[in-house]
Amino acid sequence: TNKMNIAVIPGDGIGKEVVPEGIRVLNAAAVKYGLDFNFDTFDFASCDYYQKHGQMMPDDWKDQIGGHDAIFFGAVGWPDTVPDHVSLWGSLLQFRREFDQYVSLRPAKLMPGVTSPLAGRGPGDIDMMIVRENTEGEYSSIGGRMYPGTDREIVMQETVMSRVGVDRILRYAFDLARKRGGKLTSATKSNGISITMPYWDERVLEMQKSYPDVTVDKYHIDILAAMFVLHPDRFDVVVGSNLFGDILSDLGPACTGTIGIAPSGNINPEHKFPSLFEPVHGSAPDIAGKGIANPIGQIWSGAMMLEHLGHPEAAQGIMAAIETVLTDPALRTGDLGGTADTVTCGKAIAAAV
Ligand code: NAD
Ligand code: IPM
Ligand code: MN
Repeated sequence: TNKMNIAVIPGDGIGKEVVPEGIRVLNAAAVKYGLDFNFDTFDFASCDYYQKHGQMMPDDWKDQIGGHDAIFFGAVGWPDTVPDHVSLWGSLLQFRREFDQYVSLRPAKLMPGVTSPLAGRGPGDIDMMIVRENTEGEYSSIGGRMYPGTDREIVMQETVMSRVGVDRILRYAFDLARKRGGKLTSATKSNGISITMPYWDERVLEMQKSYPDVTVDKYHIDILAAMFVLHPDRFDVVVGSNLFGDILSDLGPACTGTIGIAPSGNINPEHKFPSLFEPVHGSAPDIAGKGIANPIGQIWSGAMMLEHLGHPEAAQGIMAAIETVLTDPALRTGDLGGTADTVTCGKAIAAAV
């Protein structure tokens, strides 16, 4: 079999606790499905690294990890020691841009054994794929501060949408909708944001012409947030700009019980650069060091990585193991009302694989 070379970056906080559980489960899948992994662990892209070196990553970070087949990432951020915009623009956001991971794929699915905070919703009622634009939009470094410290102070930051950038994320979302239920929802705000968002809507309409089999609806982001809570069953594939996708991808998983199980792929669909797989959640300083974080977001991200690397049967095996463990209250972590710790939950999933 072909060896898969994986760059492992635990990062900060609970990233360092959940990544080992993700690896444990990947190793179990390797035994079961005859896969071969080589894991290289890196200490950069962490606030500890910053404290030692004055920057988040070494200058040659791209050479160090760019040749790997994929990156398995935990979480970064420790606002007590490094401001969040410094730690994130110095690490994760560089990976997404420099490796052209323009798709952020974020499932939100209500799993068996998990209770939704929304009344009357059970497994099967919420099953969506959020497709987030991941390299441009509201996350731009174009802008600045004028007249600092005076009462004329002004800050501004431009939203950037390129035709290439918008069209490629829309195409990915339309293709995915075609493969799933044939239904696509576009998040917009073209009533208030009067240049970039009407452009987004215009490109959706244009692309729709090539996908007559896909039904498209569009919602302004404010009512869309409300509809996620009131009628989550209406949504299948949901596509949004960088910021809207960010918000929807915490809201969707919250509707499915906890953000602790939500996975994500930062994908370069052309396989020109390594894609990066990480949970949606962050470093959770409030629970870090206690060993109680839910490892399922990380483990599920490992399943998405296997799918991306061409091992769908192993990915499905991990998903089945997650479902088995979720239905046992004694194996769930505290965010799901259980008492299991991180390692207990991770070991149970590895055993179920
Ligand atoms: P967060 O996701 O870290 O935590 C939000 C809340 O959810 C906290 O109460 C936390 O305890 C809980 N939570 C998160 N993951 C959990 C898990 N696996 N199990 C149980 N509970 C869990 O978001 P935040 O507090 O806004 O951010 C904390 C730090 O993480 C900041 O530095 C932020 O910038 C960073 N961050 C990083 C990423 C990333 O690396 N992709 C994502 C989000 C936030
Ligand atoms: C995420 C995170 C990041 C984002 C932050 C930490 C920069 O919230 O991966 O969703 O906004 O993309
Ligand atoms: Mn986020």
